[in-house]
Amino acid sequence: MKITNYGHACWHIELASHQLLFDPFISGNPLATHIDIDKIQCDYILISHGHEDHIADVERIARRTNAKLISNFEIINWFGAKGLSNGHPMNIGGKWKFDFGTISYFTAQHSSVMPDGQSGGNPGGFLVETPQGNFYFSGDTGLMMDMKLIPSLLKLDFAILPIGDNFTMGIEESIIASDFIECDQIIAMHYDTFGYIVVDKQIAKAKFEARSKNLIFIEIGESLTI
Ligand code: NI
Ligand code: MN
Repeated sequence: MKITNYGHACWHIELASHQLLFDPFISGNPLATHIDIDKIQCDYILISHGHEDHIADVERIARRTNAKLISNFEIINWFGAKGLSNGHPMNIGGKWKFDFGTISYFTAQHSSVMPDGQSGGNPGGFLVETPQGNFYFSGDTGLMMDMKLIPSLLKLDFAILPIGDNFTMGIEESIIASDFIECDQIIAMHYDTFGYIVVDKQIAKAKFEARSKNLIFIEIGESLTI
């Protein structure tokens, strides 16, 4: 599995036969100006919630690639009304077997509204089970007790969690989350993009190390194969 960071909460996951893209927000990200949006390939675009910093480039990429959108019912309907009809609606607690693996749309403690003010449904994250490995992409969320359910649902190889604080979990909460989900390989997201979420990476890594956990930073545009 090849994991590429496109900045903020946007991740590209290359599986054996399919490519997934999470929460595309590249054109509006001042840290991702070196990423060529129009070269990104994907079969599926997974959307955690309706905020602009998670959906800004969905339409541009979906129109070019005809990728299938996976999100909650309200977000899929919202893009459907724009003519993006290749969508798969889900809701909290449900799972579906796709051709690349099984997705569960898992609860997140956050908010979700579309850029035009329409409802973005309930925010969520994704539990992703594939033959190449299992992971949790939490989306934007605070620390929540529901995370303790995850080990009963899926044995994780790694998790992508926010560490930027203010809008989501910060470093300390992410360490507790990694206990809850029983996964010590954490890839950091949702930091540095705006002034409110700037982190010191060395301090963040040290805090994880002090708890015998691995916090992984992948530079924007760089990949990690696991
Ligand atoms: Ni958000
Ligand atoms: Mn966000």
